[in-house]
Amino acid sequence: MKVSVMTHPLIQHKVTLMRDAETGSKDFRQLLDEITMLMGYEITRSLPLEDVEVQTPLTKMTGKRIAGKKLGIIPILRAGLGMVNGMLNLIPTAKVGHIGLYRDPETLKPVEYYCKLPSDVGERDFIVTDPMLATGGSAAAAITLLKEKGAKNIKLMCLVAAPEGVEAVNKEHPEVPIYVAALDEKLNDHGYILPGLGDAGDRIFGTK
Ligand code: PRP
Ligand code: URA
Repeated sequence: MKVSVMTHPLIQHKVTLMRDAETGSKDFRQLLDEITMLMGYEITRSLPLEDVEVQTPLTKMTGKRIAGKKLGIIPILRAGLGMVNGMLNLIPTAKVGHIGLYRDPETLKPVEYYCKLPSDVGERDFIVTDPMLATGGSAAAAITLLKEKGAKNIKLMCLVAAPEGVEAVNKEHPEVPIYVAALDEKLNDHGYILPGLGDAGDRIFGTK
């Protein structure tokens, strides 16, 4: 299994708060924002830099800035939206595309209902966001879609993953790095992650 589990104490602490069934939507969203920022800081460590001339109040110097086209953040609707603000806090100029997928409750297979991506897909780096990586069907389908549109450099960022989901994405997209805040035990018979945190979309948006 190829996956980076981000074990920073602040991340672990906040994930535990999110798992608690008593945590309401407002706090759940806030915690997801905070964890996304902590994870995003690490995940963007490899962004390429270029030199740029800058005139300070005292003198000229050569500084660094992020090179190339703006990063693309691709939330998988709906729950992936909960990780967009955190990423935009870090990289306010990032472009945001949306991929709409829902998991058929019977087959557990992803069904696509929306796709709107930034321009110049082939020239950008992408981070796909979705709090839950369960069977891996949704994430694998979103990555396939991005690749079909020309994306070459894709990372996957999730909050909680099941080993089954990591293996499925590893198998279908071996070159795509996966970053998670927690790697849980397994899936239950309904495809929910155990111990997990329940239905992320419902908890973010207060639906049930
Ligand atoms: C959830 C979650 C993932 C998917 C994970 O979405 O946000 O997208 O399930 O499951 P998988 O790895 O087995 O595909 P859901 O289909 O419940 O839709 P929602 O985000 O609109 O609630
Ligand atoms: N989707 C969720 O929101 N939670 C799970 O545990 C599995 C899929």
